[in-house]
Amino acid sequence: AKDQYHEFVIREATVKRLCKSHNIMTVNGEFPGPTLEINEGDSLIINLINRGRYNVTLHWHGVRQMRTGWSDGPEFVTQCPVRPGQSYRYRFTVAAQEGTLWWHAHSSWLRATVYGALLIRPRDPTDVQPARELAPILLGEWWDMNPVDVVRAATRTGAAPNISDALTVNGQPGDLYNCSSQDTAVFPVKSGETNLLRFINAALNTELFVSLAGHNMTVVGADASYTKPYTTSLLLLAPGQTTDVLVTFDQPPGRYYLAARAYASAQGVPFDNTTTTAIFDYGAASASSPAMPTLPPYNDTATATAFTTSLRGLRKAELPSRVDESLFFTVGVGLFNCTKGQQCGGPNGTRFAASINNVSFVLPSSSSILQAHYHGAAGGVFTADFPANPPVQFDYTAQNVSRALWQPVAGTKVYKLKYGSSVQVVLQGTNIFAGENHPIHIHGYDFYILAEGSGNFDAGRDTGKFNMDDPPMRNTVGVPVNGWAVIRFVADNPGVWLMHCHLDVHITWGLAMAFLVDDGVGELQSLEAPPPDLPLC
Ligand code: C2O
Repeated sequence: AKDQYHEFVIREATVKRLCKSHNIMTVNGEFPGPTLEINEGDSLIINLINRGRYNVTLHWHGVRQMRTGWSDGPEFVTQCPVRPGQSYRYRFTVAAQEGTLWWHAHSSWLRATVYGALLIRPRDPTDVQPARELAPILLGEWWDMNPVDVVRAATRTGAAPNISDALTVNGQPGDLYNCSSQDTAVFPVKSGETNLLRFINAALNTELFVSLAGHNMTVVGADASYTKPYTTSLLLLAPGQTTDVLVTFDQPPGRYYLAARAYASAQGVPFDNTTTTAIFDYGAASASSPAMPTLPPYNDTATATAFTTSLRGLRKAELPSRVDESLFFTVGVGLFNCTKGQQCGGPNGTRFAASINNVSFVLPSSSSILQAHYHGAAGGVFTADFPANPPVQFDYTAQNVSRALWQPVAGTKVYKLKYGSSVQVVLQGTNIFAGENHPIHIHGYDFYILAEGSGNFDAGRDTGKFNMDDPPMRNTVGVPVNGWAVIRFVADNPGVWLMHCHLDVHITWGLAMAFLVDDGVGELQSLEAPPPDLPLC
């Protein structure tokens, strides 16, 4: 195993998109940011040097960070932000994960432009069929307005933020947008070759259907865990998720569009309904325009569900049969009543809010949760009373009862898990304000997705549907619109781990909580001491 050292300098760069010049935040002036390529078992040391004008942190999305919580990155959760002019070294090992992950800023909405791929190759490649890899495919969202200003405006007014102005492949909107076609991402391919394609959904707020004209894709991995091969003409990726596929380029030589557009499950909620494209090019000179794939309608939940429920883990799951912590979390968007002096641009003079078990997560400001806990100074920073169940039993058929979950209570609460405990979480979409698929991501853990379904989760009826044999292992699960998903993991990683909806608009509104996993010693003593350069708030 090797150590790699990288300098990630956060700085402004000028790029041209959609007919205009923009100053954006970048790593090393690159957009998307640099690709990290490692072998399983390697360690990374990334020196973040902030020469930008915003506070920033970086998160290594999906990296387990075993006992290296100080390097996880969510601001005010595991560290205080790195201020302009300061620097911080992230150090961590990537072990027992192979495939594709990514990294992104975890402050404000900086991740709109501060993100990149993390490719993890097998240390010993003898047991995998090597296929030539194409460059990673990062799907993103572009705003003409500075994304930090977009979220600041939404936070001030309580209204929904602007939707994006374009979807992108590797930072480029593609042929269907103004002033974009000259920069469309192009992937050269060779006739007859089978290639590994790595997809990452780095978009802020949009789940994406993806298809490649004329070609099937065989899914072999998701979120850096292998899956049973599954051949399909369509992928669905929620923000945060990755998918590795094999494609055989066996079609008549020509040019073929890869296209992505929204899966927008929420009724009546505005979304970016444009289509981004890239070109797969066999290199045969051809003047005709590339073939376009068909993508499902934006609200095609049946197709979305058919894709996600087709993924299976490659190997038999290693699941303890016992469940020590059985949690039931409602996830959804609600509304805050207006208080004096606030702008209330939400529906009917309210402010948008979102919650888990009716608690709308508020980031602390005087310390990060992990620092406060490590130093035994939780007071004024967080409380350890996150509820295991919602305050009222959620029930779609009794909306008057469930309306109690319209108005969340703001708070910074963690749920304490005993080290080594087997944890099951039923994630129940409340979807009271507007039904929507929520991609729920947990830091510090991968989890098995045992089952998902629509309507109310019913333990008596639904426990029998759990796939205990080959459930997929992921770090981000799309909780179906008007439905539920059940996940399981073993709390074997001490630290403070954020769980949140990976639609940034929802984390902004509070759809988050954190697990505090004690190591059994009581004070996270087996976590390394905080690094000397860990920023203070
Ligand atoms: Cu990819 Cu908390 O994030």
